[in-house]
Amino acid sequence: MNYNLAHFITSAPDIRQMPEDIGIEVAFAGRSNAGKSSALNALTRQNHLARTSKTPGRTQLINVFELAEQKRIIDLPGYGYAKVPEDMKKKWQAALGEYLQKRKSLKGLVVLMDIRHPFKELDQDLIFWAVDSGLPVLCLLTKADKLKQGLRKSTVLKMRKEAKNFEGDVTVEAFSSTKGFGLDQLRAKLDSWYLP
Ligand code: GTP
Ligand code: MG
Repeated sequence: MNYNLAHFITSAPDIRQMPEDIGIEVAFAGRSNAGKSSALNALTRQNHLARTSKTPGRTQLINVFELAEQKRIIDLPGYGYAKVPEDMKKKWQAALGEYLQKRKSLKGLVVLMDIRHPFKELDQDLIFWAVDSGLPVLCLLTKADKLKQGLRKSTVLKMRKEAKNFEGDVTVEAFSSTKGFGLDQLRAKLDSWYLP
């Protein structure tokens, strides 16, 4: 797949306002500020495709990008940001839950977690849910450039062991949008989902 061809289609507040549920969709999910939008920009080699921000909670809508006909990539709203008002949090969580449960074209989930804080409770809930639904999961340990090589490698090995607890198709890679770590692995995994 040529990920450079990605283009923005729409921002939807809920699944009713998303494009028709046909073809293949892959979603990027993770806590606020985990680096979802940055990863999407690195993947597509487009610096301004998805909006990134130092302020957590920037992406509040389901952002839909098209790679090719009936092949989409989704930038989901981040979860777990404490300072968001309670009613907004509930709204996002409802939208996120509905998307994950009902979207038939969803064929794989990329869960992004800061390598310094992996597998927080909400991440685990999400991964368990995906495994229960038979969805393959790629965990990207983001901002891997923040750790020295030795610690980075040992963290990945430790998290791969931890991922076995999910008892599903859950793989783990180190990732850095700034340094390009893990991009080849991300592309290979996405290819396997988009081009079965
Ligand atoms: P929300 O949309 O708020 O949920 O956040 P997000 O997950 O889309 O995160 P975003 O990509 O906006 O990145 C959050 C912050 O982390 C920004 O300041 C980025 O510059 C920084 N960041 C993202 N990826 C990396 C990375 O690989 N390395 C480093 N050092 N910083 C990164
Ligand atoms: Mg974002």
